[in-house]
Amino acid sequence: MKIIRVKDYQAMSEAAAKIISEAVRENPQINLGLATGGSPVKMYKLLVADHQANKTVYKDVKSFNLDEYLGLPQGHPQTYHTFMHENLFNHIDIKEENIFVPDGDTKDPKATAAQYEELLEKNQIDLQLLGIGTNGHIGFNEPGSSFQGKTAVVDLTPETITANARYFEGNQDLVPTEAISMGIGSIMRAKKILLIASGANKAKVIKGLVEGAITESLPASVLQNHPDVTLVIDEAAASLLSK
Ligand code: F6R
Repeated sequence: MKIIRVKDYQAMSEAAAKIISEAVRENPQINLGLATGGSPVKMYKLLVADHQANKTVYKDVKSFNLDEYLGLPQGHPQTYHTFMHENLFNHIDIKEENIFVPDGDTKDPKATAAQYEELLEKNQIDLQLLGIGTNGHIGFNEPGSSFQGKTAVVDLTPETITANARYFEGNQDLVPTEAISMGIGSIMRAKKILLIASGANKAKVIKGLVEGAITESLPASVLQNHPDVTLVIDEAAASLLSK
């Protein structure tokens, strides 16, 4: 595991944006796995700025998002579909038909999850971006999720619902309780994984991910088994690491 330690959120965003934009320039047909949440927001801004300044081309890039809430109507401001368009897709030249986010407004969530998994089996992800939950989740694979898991309908833990209430007027009752998420097995098939984390509230889980046991009770610890993982973490997130 390669660990890039940087000063703060801004530096984390810059380092991660550099890795992604270079990967896109190197392979204009790259399959990107993308994440939502607070961690990548600035990084996406920098990718947009890079697209405008350096003409990094996304027209043959395919993107596959990690997850989507279940039960929010299409166009709801808090869907990850909306998040991705507002933060990135609307501002670069990626084609709409090359954008894949699980459909959270489906009538048959299980079938939708199975179809998404099939799509991922046909399109290996070259570079998968991950954030990490304070409980160690990656995607919405909460503690206890199987390391072999495929894309599935998952329940969000109370900790995740509390953490995400900030996007729902601070009201936990408005946060969906289920999502469709790539499984840990699906994530681990990516050729390369880039995980970003910033802030003291991530320090404990980053220590567990880097130095702890590989255990399903800390889903991100599975990344110790992946051959090509880069962590970009800021000082606060790295603060509990022993070296
Ligand atoms: C988002 C996702 C989640 C987040 C994680 C961290 O698509 O899959 O695993 O990456 O919850 O969220 P933030 O970045 O908001 O701390």
